[in-house]
Amino acid sequence: MQILDGKKVSQAVKDQLKIDVAQLSAEGKKVPHLAAILVGNDGASETYVASKVKSCEEVGFKSTLIRFDADTSENKLLEQIEDLNHDPDVDGILVQLPLPKHISDEQVINTINPEKDVDGFHPSSVGRMVQGLPTFISATPHGIMLMLEHYNINTAGMHAVVIGRSNIVGRPMSILLSENKNPGNCTVTLCHSKTKNIAELCRNADIIVAALGKPGFVTEDWIKEGAIVIDVGITRVADATKKSGFRLKGDVDYDNVAPKCSWITPVPGGVGPMTIAALLNNTYRSCMMKN
Ligand code: GUN
Repeated sequence: MQILDGKKVSQAVKDQLKIDVAQLSAEGKKVPHLAAILVGNDGASETYVASKVKSCEEVGFKSTLIRFDADTSENKLLEQIEDLNHDPDVDGILVQLPLPKHISDEQVINTINPEKDVDGFHPSSVGRMVQGLPTFISATPHGIMLMLEHYNINTAGMHAVVIGRSNIVGRPMSILLSENKNPGNCTVTLCHSKTKNIAELCRNADIIVAALGKPGFVTEDWIKEGAIVIDVGITRVADATKKSGFRLKGDVDYDNVAPKCSWITPVPGGVGPMTIAALLNNTYRSCMMKN
Protein backbone atom coordinates (compact mmCIF):
# COMPACT_ATOMS: atom_id res chain seq x y z
CA MET A 1 0.00 0.00 0.00
CA GLN A 2 1.27 3.45 -0.91
CA ILE A 3 0.06 6.83 0.30
CA LEU A 4 -1.18 9.50 -2.07
CA ASP A 5 0.45 12.30 -0.12
CA GLY A 6 -1.63 15.39 -0.89
CA LYS A 7 0.38 17.52 1.49
CA LYS A 8 3.62 16.75 -0.35
CA VAL A 9 2.17 17.13 -3.85
CA SER A 10 0.41 20.34 -2.89
CA GLN A 11 3.69 21.71 -1.55
CA ALA A 12 5.38 20.86 -4.86
CA VAL A 13 2.64 22.74 -6.75
CA LYS A 14 3.02 25.70 -4.38
CA ASP A 15 6.83 25.69 -4.68
CA GLN A 16 6.50 25.93 -8.48
CA LEU A 17 3.88 28.69 -8.24
CA LYS A 18 6.15 30.63 -5.89
CA ILE A 19 8.90 30.54 -8.52
CA ASP A 20 6.45 31.55 -11.28
CA VAL A 21 5.06 34.45 -9.23
CA ALA A 22 8.55 35.68 -8.32
CA GLN A 23 9.31 35.69 -12.07
CA LEU A 24 6.17 37.77 -12.77
CA SER A 25 7.19 40.26 -10.08
CA ALA A 26 10.74 40.46 -11.43
CA GLU A 27 9.30 41.30 -14.86
CA GLY A 28 7.15 44.06 -13.29
CA LYS A 29 3.95 42.16 -14.13
CA LYS A 30 0.82 41.86 -12.07
CA VAL A 31 0.74 39.00 -9.54
CA PRO A 32 -2.39 36.81 -9.18
CA HIS A 33 -5.10 38.16 -6.87
CA LEU A 34 -7.77 35.97 -5.28
CA ALA A 35 -10.82 37.54 -3.63
CA ALA A 36 -12.57 35.22 -1.16
CA ILE A 37 -16.02 35.92 0.26
CA LEU A 38 -17.16 34.34 3.51
CA VAL A 39 -20.74 34.76 4.71
CA GLY A 40 -21.42 33.97 8.39
CA ASN A 41 -19.26 32.16 10.93
CA ASP A 42 -19.47 28.46 10.11
CA GLY A 43 -16.43 26.91 11.82
CA ALA A 44 -15.40 24.62 8.96
CA SER A 45 -15.83 27.37 6.33
CA GLU A 46 -13.74 29.75 8.47
CA THR A 47 -10.95 27.15 8.54
CA TYR A 48 -11.07 26.46 4.78
CA VAL A 49 -11.10 30.12 3.80
CA ALA A 50 -8.28 30.94 6.24
CA SER A 51 -6.26 28.12 4.71
CA LYS A 52 -6.91 29.39 1.16
CA VAL A 53 -5.86 32.94 2.10
CA LYS A 54 -2.74 31.68 3.90
CA SER A 55 -1.76 29.58 0.87
CA CYS A 56 -2.08 32.67 -1.35
CA GLU A 57 0.37 34.48 0.92
CA GLU A 58 2.77 31.52 0.86
CA VAL A 59 3.11 31.62 -2.92
CA GLY A 60 3.15 35.42 -3.25
CA PHE A 61 -0.41 35.93 -4.52
CA LYS A 62 -2.41 38.90 -3.41
CA SER A 63 -5.59 37.92 -1.54
CA THR A 64 -8.58 39.79 -0.19
CA LEU A 65 -10.95 38.28 2.34
CA ILE A 66 -14.39 39.88 2.35
CA ARG A 67 -16.67 38.95 5.24
CA PHE A 68 -20.42 39.34 5.54
CA ASP A 69 -22.70 38.69 8.52
CA ALA A 70 -24.90 35.58 8.26
CA ASP A 71 -28.02 37.78 7.90
CA THR A 72 -26.65 39.86 5.02
CA SER A 73 -29.02 40.18 2.06
CA GLU A 74 -28.54 38.31 -1.19
CA ASN A 75 -28.54 41.64 -3.05
CA LYS A 76 -25.66 42.99 -0.99
CA LEU A 77 -23.64 39.87 -1.75
CA LEU A 78 -24.46 40.05 -5.47
CA GLU A 79 -23.40 43.73 -5.55
CA GLN A 80 -20.07 42.81 -3.99
CA ILE A 81 -19.53 40.11 -6.61
CA GLU A 82 -20.35 42.60 -9.38
CA ASP A 83 -17.75 45.01 -7.95
CA LEU A 84 -15.15 42.25 -7.99
CA ASN A 85 -16.19 41.25 -11.53
CA HIS A 86 -15.34 44.78 -12.66
CA ASP A 87 -12.15 45.17 -10.61
CA PRO A 88 -9.26 44.68 -13.09
CA ASP A 89 -6.88 43.77 -10.27
CA VAL A 90 -8.93 40.72 -9.19
CA ASP A 91 -8.24 37.48 -11.09
CA GLY A 92 -10.27 35.00 -9.09
CA ILE A 93 -13.50 35.20 -7.08
CA LEU A 94 -14.44 32.55 -4.57
CA VAL A 95 -17.63 32.50 -2.52
CA GLN A 96 -17.30 29.87 0.19
CA LEU A 97 -20.19 27.40 0.29
CA PRO A 98 -22.50 26.56 1.97
CA LEU A 99 -24.31 29.90 2.10
CA PRO A 100 -27.08 30.79 4.60
CA LYS A 101 -30.45 29.37 3.53
CA HIS A 102 -31.95 32.75 2.47
CA ILE A 103 -29.22 33.20 -0.19
CA SER A 104 -29.45 31.26 -3.44
CA ASP A 105 -26.21 29.41 -4.33
CA GLU A 106 -27.39 29.42 -7.92
CA GLN A 107 -27.84 33.22 -8.09
CA VAL A 108 -24.45 33.76 -6.48
CA ILE A 109 -22.60 31.34 -8.75
CA ASN A 110 -24.32 32.68 -11.87
CA THR A 111 -23.25 36.24 -10.96
CA ILE A 112 -19.52 35.45 -10.90
CA ASN A 113 -17.83 36.41 -14.17
CA PRO A 114 -16.83 33.03 -15.74
CA GLU A 115 -13.41 34.56 -16.51
CA LYS A 116 -12.85 34.86 -12.74
CA ASP A 117 -14.66 31.65 -11.74
CA VAL A 118 -11.61 29.92 -10.22
CA ASP A 119 -13.91 27.53 -8.31
CA GLY A 120 -15.25 26.28 -11.65
CA PHE A 121 -18.86 26.32 -10.43
CA HIS A 122 -20.41 28.61 -13.08
CA PRO A 123 -22.66 26.76 -15.58
CA SER A 124 -20.40 28.02 -18.37
CA SER A 125 -17.31 26.49 -16.69
CA VAL A 126 -19.16 23.23 -16.02
CA GLY A 127 -20.45 23.06 -19.60
CA ARG A 128 -16.96 23.60 -21.01
CA MET A 129 -15.55 20.96 -18.65
CA VAL A 130 -18.17 18.43 -19.80
CA GLN A 131 -17.19 19.12 -23.42
CA GLY A 132 -13.47 18.78 -22.60
CA LEU A 133 -12.78 22.44 -23.47
CA PRO A 134 -10.22 24.56 -21.59
CA THR A 135 -11.85 26.06 -18.50
CA PHE A 136 -11.56 26.32 -14.72
CA ILE A 137 -12.23 22.89 -13.25
CA SER A 138 -13.62 22.84 -9.72
CA ALA A 139 -10.84 22.58 -7.21
CA THR A 140 -11.47 19.22 -5.52
CA PRO A 141 -11.84 17.05 -8.66
CA HIS A 142 -9.08 19.05 -10.36
CA GLY A 143 -6.82 18.46 -7.33
CA ILE A 144 -7.53 14.71 -7.41
CA MET A 145 -6.62 14.56 -11.12
CA LEU A 146 -3.39 16.49 -10.41
CA MET A 147 -2.52 13.99 -7.69
CA LEU A 148 -3.11 10.95 -9.94
CA GLU A 149 -0.99 12.67 -12.60
CA HIS A 150 1.79 13.40 -10.10
CA TYR A 151 2.03 9.72 -9.12
CA ASN A 152 1.90 8.60 -12.77
CA ILE A 153 -1.14 6.46 -12.12
CA ASN A 154 -2.50 5.34 -15.46
CA THR A 155 -6.24 4.89 -14.98
CA ALA A 156 -7.07 3.86 -18.57
CA GLY A 157 -9.56 0.99 -18.69
CA MET A 158 -10.19 1.02 -14.95
CA HIS A 159 -13.64 0.77 -13.43
CA ALA A 160 -14.06 3.87 -11.27
CA VAL A 161 -16.83 4.12 -8.70
CA VAL A 162 -17.63 7.65 -7.54
CA ILE A 163 -19.84 7.88 -4.44
CA GLY A 164 -21.74 11.17 -4.22
CA ARG A 165 -23.29 13.28 -6.98
CA SER A 166 -22.67 16.83 -5.72
CA ASN A 167 -22.00 19.60 -8.23
CA ILE A 168 -18.77 20.39 -6.35
CA VAL A 169 -17.17 16.93 -6.34
CA GLY A 170 -18.98 13.75 -7.41
CA ARG A 171 -20.53 14.86 -10.68
CA PRO A 172 -17.48 16.67 -12.13
CA MET A 173 -15.25 13.83 -10.87
CA SER A 174 -17.30 11.30 -12.82
CA ILE A 175 -16.92 13.39 -15.99
CA LEU A 176 -13.16 13.90 -15.61
CA LEU A 177 -12.48 10.21 -14.95
CA SER A 178 -14.41 9.26 -18.08
CA GLU A 179 -12.57 11.71 -20.37
CA ASN A 180 -10.40 10.41 -23.19
CA LYS A 181 -7.22 11.55 -21.40
CA ASN A 182 -4.74 10.31 -18.86
CA PRO A 183 -5.65 10.28 -16.02
CA GLY A 184 -9.13 9.41 -17.22
CA ASN A 185 -10.36 6.80 -19.71
CA CYS A 186 -12.16 4.99 -16.92
CA THR A 187 -15.53 3.29 -17.05
CA VAL A 188 -17.38 5.27 -14.42
CA THR A 189 -20.23 4.32 -12.12
CA LEU A 190 -21.73 7.23 -10.18
CA CYS A 191 -23.38 6.08 -6.95
CA HIS A 192 -25.72 8.11 -4.72
CA SER A 193 -28.22 7.78 -1.91
CA LYS A 194 -30.67 5.79 -4.07
CA THR A 195 -28.10 3.33 -5.43
CA LYS A 196 -29.17 -0.16 -4.38
CA ASN A 197 -25.94 -2.13 -4.49
CA ILE A 198 -23.10 0.24 -3.57
CA ALA A 199 -21.07 -2.45 -1.75
CA GLU A 200 -21.22 -4.79 -4.75
CA LEU A 201 -20.31 -2.02 -7.21
CA CYS A 202 -17.37 -1.01 -5.02
CA ARG A 203 -16.13 -4.61 -4.87
CA ASN A 204 -15.82 -4.38 -8.65
CA ALA A 205 -14.02 -1.04 -8.57
CA ASP A 206 -10.36 -0.47 -9.44
CA ILE A 207 -10.69 3.08 -8.16
CA ILE A 208 -13.13 4.45 -5.60
CA VAL A 209 -13.71 8.15 -4.97
CA ALA A 210 -15.75 8.60 -1.79
CA ALA A 211 -17.38 12.03 -1.62
CA LEU A 212 -20.61 11.72 0.35
CA GLY A 213 -19.71 13.19 3.75
CA LYS A 214 -20.47 10.14 5.92
CA PRO A 215 -17.51 9.25 8.14
CA GLY A 216 -16.27 5.67 7.79
CA PHE A 217 -18.94 4.79 5.18
CA VAL A 218 -16.62 2.75 2.94
CA THR A 219 -15.54 -0.40 4.75
CA GLU A 220 -12.90 -3.06 4.17
CA ASP A 221 -15.35 -5.68 2.80
CA TRP A 222 -16.19 -3.29 -0.10
CA ILE A 223 -12.60 -3.15 -1.33
CA LYS A 224 -11.07 -5.22 -4.10
CA GLU A 225 -7.45 -6.19 -3.40
CA GLY A 226 -5.17 -3.55 -4.99
CA ALA A 227 -7.85 -0.87 -5.45
CA ILE A 228 -7.04 2.86 -5.44
CA VAL A 229 -9.08 4.69 -2.80
CA ILE A 230 -9.57 8.44 -2.76
CA ASP A 231 -11.28 9.89 0.28
CA VAL A 232 -12.85 13.33 -0.11
CA GLY A 233 -14.68 13.26 3.25
CA ILE A 234 -13.60 15.68 5.97
CA THR A 235 -16.27 15.48 8.66
CA ARG A 236 -15.55 16.93 12.09
CA VAL A 237 -16.15 14.27 14.74
CA ALA A 238 -16.01 14.92 18.50
CA ASP A 239 -12.67 14.04 20.09
CA ALA A 240 -12.11 15.06 23.70
CA THR A 241 -8.36 14.36 23.41
CA LYS A 242 -7.97 17.25 20.92
CA LYS A 243 -7.64 20.88 21.97
CA SER A 244 -10.23 21.85 19.34
CA GLY A 245 -12.63 19.17 20.65
CA PHE A 246 -12.84 17.45 17.24
CA ARG A 247 -10.83 15.59 14.64
CA LEU A 248 -11.34 15.17 10.92
CA LYS A 249 -12.64 11.82 9.69
CA GLY A 250 -12.92 10.70 6.08
CA ASP A 251 -15.65 8.75 4.32
CA VAL A 252 -13.39 5.69 4.34
CA ASP A 253 -12.64 3.42 7.31
CA TYR A 254 -8.94 4.09 6.70
CA ASP A 255 -7.27 1.73 9.20
CA ASN A 256 -9.05 -1.36 7.89
CA VAL A 257 -9.28 -0.35 4.21
CA ALA A 258 -5.69 0.83 3.70
CA PRO A 259 -3.99 -2.61 3.90
CA LYS A 260 -6.03 -3.83 0.88
CA CYS A 261 -5.26 -0.82 -1.36
CA SER A 262 -2.52 -0.17 -3.89
CA TRP A 263 -2.89 3.57 -3.20
CA ILE A 264 -4.94 5.52 -0.68
CA THR A 265 -5.33 9.14 0.43
CA PRO A 266 -5.12 9.88 4.16
CA VAL A 267 -7.48 12.28 5.98
CA PRO A 268 -6.24 14.85 6.70
CA GLY A 269 -3.32 15.37 4.29
CA GLY A 270 -4.82 13.80 1.16
CA VAL A 271 -7.42 15.50 -0.99
CA GLY A 272 -7.77 18.65 1.19
CA PRO A 273 -4.37 20.19 0.40
CA MET A 274 -4.79 19.28 -3.28
CA THR A 275 -8.03 21.28 -3.40
CA ILE A 276 -6.06 24.36 -2.39
CA ALA A 277 -3.26 23.61 -4.86
CA ALA A 278 -5.85 23.37 -7.66
CA LEU A 279 -7.50 26.64 -6.62
CA LEU A 280 -4.12 28.40 -6.68
CA ASN A 281 -3.39 26.88 -10.10
CA ASN A 282 -6.72 28.17 -11.43
CA THR A 283 -6.05 31.66 -10.03
CA TYR A 284 -2.58 31.73 -11.57
CA ARG A 285 -4.04 30.67 -14.95
CA SER A 286 -6.69 33.36 -14.74
CA CYS A 287 -4.01 35.97 -14.09
CA MET A 288 -1.85 34.69 -16.96
CA MET A 289 -4.75 35.07 -19.39
CA LYS A 290 -4.47 38.83 -18.79
CA ASN A 291 -0.74 39.22 -18.14
N1 GUN B 1 -17.31 24.38 0.05
C1 GUN B 1 -16.82 23.13 0.02
N2 GUN B 1 -15.91 23.01 -0.96
C2 GUN B 1 -15.82 24.21 -1.57
C3 GUN B 1 -15.04 24.71 -2.65
O1 GUN B 1 -14.24 24.00 -3.28
N3 GUN B 1 -15.24 26.00 -2.96
C4 GUN B 1 -16.12 26.80 -2.30
N4 GUN B 1 -16.25 28.05 -2.70
N5 GUN B 1 -16.86 26.37 -1.29
C5 GUN B 1 -16.71 25.07 -0.93
